[in-house]
Amino acid sequence: MAYKVAVVGATGNVGREMLSILAERQFPASEVVALASTRSTGLDVSFGDATLKVKALDYYDFAGTDICLMSAGSAVSKEWSPKIAAKGAIVIDNSSQWRMDRDVPLVVPEVNAEVLEGGIKKGIIANPNCSTVQMVIALKPLHDAATIKRVVVSTYQSVSGAGKDGMDELFRQTRAVFVADPIEKQKFTKQIAFNVIPHIDVFLDSGVTKEEWKMMVETQKILDPDIQVNATCVRVPVFIGHSESVNVEFEKPITAEKARAILRAAPGVLVIDKREDAGYITPVEAAGEDATYVSRIRKDPSVENGLSLWVVSDNLRKGAALNAIQIAESLINRKLLKRAA
Ligand SMILES: NC(=O)c1ccc[n+]([C@@H]2O[C@H](COP(=O)([O-])OP(=O)(O)OC[C@H]3O[C@@H](n4cnc5c(N)ncnc54)[C@H](OP(=O)(O)O)[C@@H]3O)[C@@H](O)[C@H]2O)c1
Repeated sequence: MAYKVAVVGATGNVGREMLSILAERQFPASEVVALASTRSTGLDVSFGDATLKVKALDYYDFAGTDICLMSAGSAVSKEWSPKIAAKGAIVIDNSSQWRMDRDVPLVVPEVNAEVLEGGIKKGIIANPNCSTVQMVIALKPLHDAATIKRVVVSTYQSVSGAGKDGMDELFRQTRAVFVADPIEKQKFTKQIAFNVIPHIDVFLDSGVTKEEWKMMVETQKILDPDIQVNATCVRVPVFIGHSESVNVEFEKPITAEKARAILRAAPGVLVIDKREDAGYITPVEAAGEDATYVSRIRKDPSVENGLSLWVVSDNLRKGAALNAIQIAESLINRKLLKRAA
């Protein structure tokens, strides 16, 4: 069986990665359609060895589409996802628009694919925030083993998480520093080249940023509403790959050795954890890879049952495009896609 797949946001960071992963994994597609704004109509985008001509979302008829991989931001998703779903396609959305909707499953296949069996009432499935995805992949097997009470996480998030404009800004500012040009800020609130910015998405009344709030509520929706999460989300001058320093407090005792063994056996996780020079992973090595890497697993002596971890993943792949395609594969494997071509 083969499915007609539309990629909305095909010219963006995530959309391009989606096209590349669909080709790489030989996704069973009868046709792949690349869609973006009218600005991009007629542009070529790569799909494996082939190229696709970009079509305008505004004028595209979704009748006959089985799966729509959506990565064009919340405003576009708010308007278009219900319309596309009404045409019979299952929409897998990367924006934050639908994640906390009670009728929309929020899915990381290695962690909670079974929620797909509960029904896809609106025809929309949400992909979690990139920082949430990699964290819950590492936390899930540890939660099963020793029950997590509380998580304190600080993120080191790459500029690609802010779209192609974010990557361009880091490049331009880095160059400007070297040639002593003025630093221009458009995408980020402060200089990002040779700097770090403790501010991602908007501030909420409580003082946390929306990115930090997303990590809290999404982790609770995916893993367990009883887990308390405190996040500090920071943008760093890295092009691709988010890193996280994660402190976890458990109900039950769990040693670093036991955690290491559990994580080694966990789906989607690769443990790189040697207590020697370079015995850990950094974002440069994680970029382009599918795994969520866990390093620096050690006891947190400041609480009774505590561990500290370093978690790194490619935010464009597992944090977005790969996770969305794995959701589509889960639908197929579970025979949950209505229409077969
Ligand atoms: N980057 C990440 O790590 C990451 C992780 C998880 C989730 N996400 C989410 O994924 C989405 C896309 O992120 P990105 O990083 O790929 O952004 P991006 O590089 O800025 O790309 C945005 C894409 O959306 C398209 N688009 C914008 N307005 C549109 C419209 N009115 N109609 C149709 N298409 C439109 C753009 O098309 P044009 O080129 O024609 O403007 C482009 O293809 C966002 O919701 C983001 O929050 C991103």
